[in-house]
Amino acid sequence: MSAGDFDFAERRVLISAGPTFEDIDPVRFIGNRSSGKMGFAIAQAAARRGARVMLIAGPVHLPTPDDVQRIDVRSAAQMHAAVLAQLPADIYIGAAAVADYTPREVAPIKMKKRPGQETLVLDLVRTPDILAELAAHAQRPPLVVGFAAETDRVAEYARGKLIAKRIDLIAANRVGIAGCGFESDDNALEVFWHDGERSLGPAPKAQLADALLDLVREQWCLRAGR
Ligand code: CTP
Repeated sequence: MSAGDFDFAERRVLISAGPTFEDIDPVRFIGNRSSGKMGFAIAQAAARRGARVMLIAGPVHLPTPDDVQRIDVRSAAQMHAAVLAQLPADIYIGAAAVADYTPREVAPIKMKKRPGQETLVLDLVRTPDILAELAAHAQRPPLVVGFAAETDRVAEYARGKLIAKRIDLIAANRVGIAGCGFESDDNALEVFWHDGERSLGPAPKAQLADALLDLVREQWCLRAGR
């Protein structure tokens, strides 16, 4: 089956994409360098292949793909609530770069420097791991797909996350290489599942999205015994 066929018809696909911003005060936040392009490309490809797509988007500058429903969120806590509120789903694809830590408290007014203050220590607390929580949820989608952005030891860290988070498929990309990864329109993915792996790309993110969905479909069919 090739991309363009309606091989995801009637599947309810839930996708998270983009960064999360964790507010420190009314004018500052902690964020990360995700553009959201990979997650949006997957949403677009899945919709074209007939899926009913719900996209939970962090703060990004991207138009909503055709035939995709979108909910915008800002923080990891908001993304967590929005994703859980969309269950049940057939497939969850966690492409968002969720901040791992958030300020314990958001200052209600702008924080000012004190004279002589040369350092600042922020008190941060862990955010919920949306992917791991979904994979352990009573309404677990039958197929849960994660992403891993790694600068080194890509296979080892990605396989570690596959097992620790009890997910079905993980797409790892090496970040910190010029022309690939964040902001770029091209990317390369190493995809791992429990008894296999495949390299995809380098290729435009739209093409990679379809190749990743081909693997998702393979795993779906294996599980469904088809
Ligand atoms: N993820 C999540 N919720 C979090 C953190 C991560 O759902 N609070 C998901 C991401 O959407 C991604 C996967 O977990 O699908 C891996 O994210 P990554 O940042 O690479 O890994 P972490 O689990 O945060 O581990 P580390 O930062 O130690 O590499």
